[in-house]
Amino acid sequence: MDHNQLNQAKEFLQDQLKIKPTVGLILGSGLGVLADQISQPVRIPYQDIPGFPRSTVAGHAGQLVAGELNGVAVVAMQGRFHYYEGYGLDSVTFPVRVMKAIGIEKLFVTNAAGGVNEAFKPGDLMLITDHINNTGQNPLIGPNDDQQGVRFPDLSTAYTPDLQKLAQQVATDLSIDLKEGVYVWNTGPTYETPAEVRMLQAFGGDAVGMSTVPEVIVARHVGLEILGLSCISNMAAGILDEVLSHEEVIETTESVRETFIALVKEILTRLK
Ligand code: 6GU
Repeated sequence: MDHNQLNQAKEFLQDQLKIKPTVGLILGSGLGVLADQISQPVRIPYQDIPGFPRSTVAGHAGQLVAGELNGVAVVAMQGRFHYYEGYGLDSVTFPVRVMKAIGIEKLFVTNAAGGVNEAFKPGDLMLITDHINNTGQNPLIGPNDDQQGVRFPDLSTAYTPDLQKLAQQVATDLSIDLKEGVYVWNTGPTYETPAEVRMLQAFGGDAVGMSTVPEVIVARHVGLEILGLSCISNMAAGILDEVLSHEEVIETTESVRETFIALVKEILTRLK
């Protein structure tokens, strides 16, 4: 990680932003609509931010949206960088370091994930209580930057217990059935085989996806508090008698987005 680039990104953003965000939001597939609810938004395409990864594919990688959400100053990533796209983990996690540098204290990470726990159903929301890194990859491999964090970070409370409690309290108050569980990170881009899904069940996984864990590891390293939410967009392979498609993932996340938006907004309100 390059300090020069981090400083350039920080200064660039601080020049553009009218507010100092305290909460960062990483919005997963189908969940980016939450950023459309931000008032007085300042939108900054990733390609304009110094040091941000260059999009490898045609089209737009996404944008940062900063402003107020229910009275809380936030910065949201509408779109994220995935390892399976070919970005290195330095690139995947650079935005987390940038958000930390501009002053966020809490990071909300969201994703669409496959259900591994057979008690789940598509459309469920799951509070992430812990994760399993099933990739053998780690964004902190390499020399440690002691200014950013310790060499051997403890992950025993990676998902901040107080934020988990708050999320469950809000869910109860809004009559949202918020499941809980362990998120497994696989690199993708293939979905798992049925045999792999049985293995993940035996490992204690409840949901599986292709993101989130690298960002959480770096966020923890730099001392951010973390809230993780998965939208169970489909059941993982072999559980139901159906073929997985990205279209289904998007459709299901869209069907629960109102609930997801209400949950996140009320959590923010109660942080004030
Ligand atoms: Cl079934 N697997 C993975 N790895 N990622 C997903 C998924 C499944 N469903 C949505 N995202």
